[in-house]
Amino acid sequence: MAIKAIVFDAYGTLYDVQSLSQITNAEFPRHGELITQVWRLKQLEYTWLRTLMQSYQSFWDISRDSLEFTLNAIGQTASPAQIDRIMEKYLNLDPYPEAIDALTALKGVPLAILSNGNQTMLDALVQNSGLDKHLDAVISVEKARKFKPDPDAYGLVESALNVRPADVLFVSSNAFDATAAKDFGFQVAWIERVTPQDLAAEVEANPVTGPGTMFKILRMQMETFDIEPDHRLKTLSDLAALT
Ligand code: LAC
Repeated sequence: MAIKAIVFDAYGTLYDVQSLSQITNAEFPRHGELITQVWRLKQLEYTWLRTLMQSYQSFWDISRDSLEFTLNAIGQTASPAQIDRIMEKYLNLDPYPEAIDALTALKGVPLAILSNGNQTMLDALVQNSGLDKHLDAVISVEKARKFKPDPDAYGLVESALNVRPADVLFVSSNAFDATAAKDFGFQVAWIERVTPQDLAAEVEANPVTGPGTMFKILRMQMETFDIEPDHRLKTLSDLAALT
């Protein structure tokens, strides 16, 4: 099938959300890992909840609310300055080490992001990380005022890039996103960063798992929806072989 554009998820796919642990550990040395994982789980829950409730809020506000939820839930208090310092990392997340080379190798095909992030936070992130030089468009779900996996969010790609969904290769490491994007009608490459075998070995080694393992179980394994991505890739570098 023709690939007329390649569209990437941002958080977790091009950018490592686990790099938030640098700042959560710095601010809350004993609780950084728990905060990082619960925050991300809660953040995505809030996107789904708000979409279903039809009460859209920007991803920035959702991220802040879910961070505050997390800190309250584990009995930590944070000053507004601490919250600001943690949130700031969302504008400076580490791209995955292979991201720039992988995008460079795909040059020639229009490349874009479709993300839950609001436009301002995405534009800042893309610029701060230098990925702006490698991308033709950064599309935020903000225009639809609905988060992924709402079809209206995926639908923004067609109007922004002028390509039919069937001609788009959508790339995500978020299993829910890969499943829903395939259901929507994109070709899908799922970046399988944690294999079931590696995860099973991790659980076997530590049956009372920590929050990092819990995150891998809940967000990094393929959903059981009988919807298969077209490609399962280990890293972004494997995309070049598909074009
Ligand atoms: C995004 C979320 C799924 O970037 O992480 O859209």
